Amino acid sequence: MGEHPGHYRDTFSYPPVPSHVWRQGALALTLLCLLLLIGLGVFGAICMEKLNKLQNFKEELQRNLSLQLMQNTNSSQKIRNLSIKLEEIATKLCRELYTKNKEHKCKPCPEEWMWHDDKCYLLHAYQRQETWQKSDEICSGYNASLLTIKSKSVLEFIKSLMLSNFWLGLSPRKDNPRYRNLDTVILLHWFTRNTSVINDKMYCGWIHYTTVYYTKCTETKSIICEKLAQSVKIESILMSEVLDGRK
Ligand SMILES: *[C@@H]1O[C@H](CO)[C@@H](O)[C@H](O)[C@H]1NC(C)=O
Ligand SMILES: *[C@@H]1O[C@H](CO)[C@@H](O)[C@H](O)[C@H]1NC(C)=O
Ligand SMILES: *[C@@H]1O[C@H](CO)[C@@H](O)[C@H](O)[C@H]1NC(C)=O
Ligand SMILES: *[C@@H]1O[C@H](CO)[C@@H](O)[C@H](O)[C@H]1NC(C)=O
Ligand SMILES: *[C@@H]1O[C@H](CO)[C@@H](O)[C@H](O)[C@H]1NC(C)=O
Repeated sequence: MGEHPGHYRDTFSYPPVPSHVWRQGALALTLLCLLLLIGLGVFGAICMEKLNKLQNFKEELQRNLSLQLMQNTNSSQKIRNLSIKLEEIATKLCRELYTKNKEHKCKPCPEEWMWHDDKCYLLHAYQRQETWQKSDEICSGYNASLLTIKSKSVLEFIKSLMLSNFWLGLSPRKDNPRYRNLDTVILLHWFTRNTSVINDKMYCGWIHYTTVYYTKCTETKSIICEKLAQSVKIESILMSEVLDGRK
């Protein structure tokens, strides 16, 4: 220590830099820094603006998308509503055609079946008589069941058929109730495939014009089956009209 006091001086003993050069350099550096800062600031601002725009765009897209989704839902609902209306019109039109031609191609029931409301009815082999259970099986063979009367409209339709001696799809019962007027049957227990086993001691309902009687299920009666009608096909109306026109 202190042995080479000139050592440090030696280190700094380059030719002295003129002070104005220093100043200019510092100034330039400061300016550069300022410019950089400003540049960075501007750049940052531009970046922020771009980001904001992107954010807004994204939000607008999301808004548009959800609006579109809503409109799509609306559209499909409208299409659904329209096809329901169309179906109703086709059904109405087909009913008109059916009153004039019982076997019109638009009829949503198999050939020879009658059409009423949403059901099809078949008078099975008019003269043939069977036990109640066998009759039920015959209807099942058509994917149908024995006649039921569960509404005023069907009641009037059945009255118009003037059925005599036909089984009804009423639940078989253990007792033999008094006969009753057809007008009072709507609320009776109509048979469902799930009811108890039928034995030869049970009584089954049948119709004679406007009266309902019960008798042993093993007796024989005529058969009328019912099943759900299909929906009316719009093409079936159009196509058969074209064909009819050619005749
Ligand atoms: C959003 O919808 C409006 C109006 O339909 C449209 O002018 C705009 O370009 C849509 N925006 C985007 C981001 O798709
Ligand atoms: C959907 O439909 C209804 C009735 O047609 C209409 O009042 C409503 O503005 C619709 N909404 C959209 C998002 O289109
Ligand atoms: C479709 O029909 C339903 C019920 O009839 C109704 O509530 C709905 O507003 C309808 N939708 C359109 C888009 O018309
Ligand atoms: C009854 O329905 C079954 C299945 O639903 C079908 O395979 C069969 O062909 C139908 N029979 C008649 C006579 O309609
Ligand atoms: C039959 O009906 C009874 C009640 O009446 C019900 O508990 C049962 O699940 C039904 N069985 C079938 C196969 O539908």
